[in-house]
Amino acid sequence: MEAPVVPRHIAVVMDGNGRWAQRRLLPRVAGHKQGVHAVRSLIRAARERGVEVLTVFAFSSENWQRPPDEVSFLMDLLLRALREEVDKLHSNDVRFRVVGDVGALGRETQQLIDQAQALTASNRGLCLNVAVNYGGRWDIEQAVARAVAAGDARAFAHYLSFADQPDPDLFIRTGGERRISNFLLWQLAYTELYFCDTLWPDFGEAEFAQALAWFAARERRFGRTGEQVREPVALPG
Ligand code: IPE
Ligand code: IPE
Ligand code: MG
Repeated sequence: MEAPVVPRHIAVVMDGNGRWAQRRLLPRVAGHKQGVHAVRSLIRAARERGVEVLTVFAFSSENWQRPPDEVSFLMDLLLRALREEVDKLHSNDVRFRVVGDVGALGRETQQLIDQAQALTASNRGLCLNVAVNYGGRWDIEQAVARAVAAGDARAFAHYLSFADQPDPDLFIRTGGERRISNFLLWQLAYTELYFCDTLWPDFGEAEFAQALAWFAARERRFGRTGEQVREPVALPG
């Protein structure tokens, strides 16, 4: 089985906004604002290359611990994006979803999320998941709780946020850190992990192309040997 050259599902930790701004002697939030441009360009590039699912980490369960001003700036940025970007996503056939504990978000934000999800639900182009107030541990905990409540504990994975989507083939983290930071935990079991030092606002098409080229050169073995992967044994019969 050959690895598909284009990943079906790409998951991205968009890190480095604060440092991008600080290097320019700007307030950290200027980096978040600039980061929105990089998200737009990534969505376009992913659509053009035929990626099925793109999941971006916008706000983690732990990001509430940041200074209150920064948290409210990020929440405003989300609200503004919901107001201003959804029509364009819809006209580009993008299916839009928010994953995470949305109950903790503002009322208008929750309403706009519901509307955007309903509007784009039957689109067949790129599926864009935006992880907001998301944590891999939260996801596992909520899935276990729902599975137990349904008397179906062994099938808990069916209750995870991404149960109806393929696991990520490629994980990208910008900003130089080599860690998962409580992003997808269960789903990254066999994902190829790509880390780069580029700060998120500087992550453009060329950096994305580099990540894809790196991915295309990986040999995915899923527990088998390299020989088995390269020369699959013909099944009897
Ligand atoms: C990532 O950039 C965006 C969010 C976590 C919302 P950071 O804000 O973490 O940027 P650095 O890591 O401090 O540079
Ligand atoms: C991960 O980045 C979360 C998002 C990109 C939304 P962080 O900047 O919060 O991660 P740590 O704190 O450096 O691990
Ligand atoms: Mg960071």
